[in-house]
Amino acid sequence: MVNNMGSEVEVGFTCKPKVFDPNKPIMHFKTQIFICDGERCKQSSKHEDEATFLRELLKELNLHQGQNRIKISRTNCFGACRFRQVATVFENTKANGFIQNNNIWLKNTHKFDKNRWIELFTALKNNKNLDELDFEQIPMNEIS
Ligand code: FES
Repeated sequence: MVNNMGSEVEVGFTCKPKVFDPNKPIMHFKTQIFICDGERCKQSSKHEDEATFLRELLKELNLHQGQNRIKISRTNCFGACRFRQVATVFENTKANGFIQNNNIWLKNTHKFDKNRWIELFTALKNNKNLDELDFEQIPMNEIS
């Protein structure tokens, strides 16, 4: 099997190449979404493996590669379980990331159906400001 980076990988892995190159760069992404895979968020999720579901959806949309690639990463508990399921959005501002969508904390993503995820991914691709759209965000205290 060959992964998205063109590396032949060990059976059962997508990120364990058969030939290890410590200097091979990671794949470009415009946007990275961290999806909480902590116990409480995972229990609320519609999918056994939310990250895999989202990665497959990104392939359908051709946003798993290229200039506007959206990278999905699992994370453990954000310490914000009351807002579960939690997902955060970070933009690659060293490349072509859209700074207005940097550090967005989304709540209740377990309520998203496939179409809602498509809306989010499309908005990110098109650099729509999430602050101006109706995605519920987790409030954050001002620095005092
Ligand atoms: S388990 Fe997701 S924020 Fe705690």
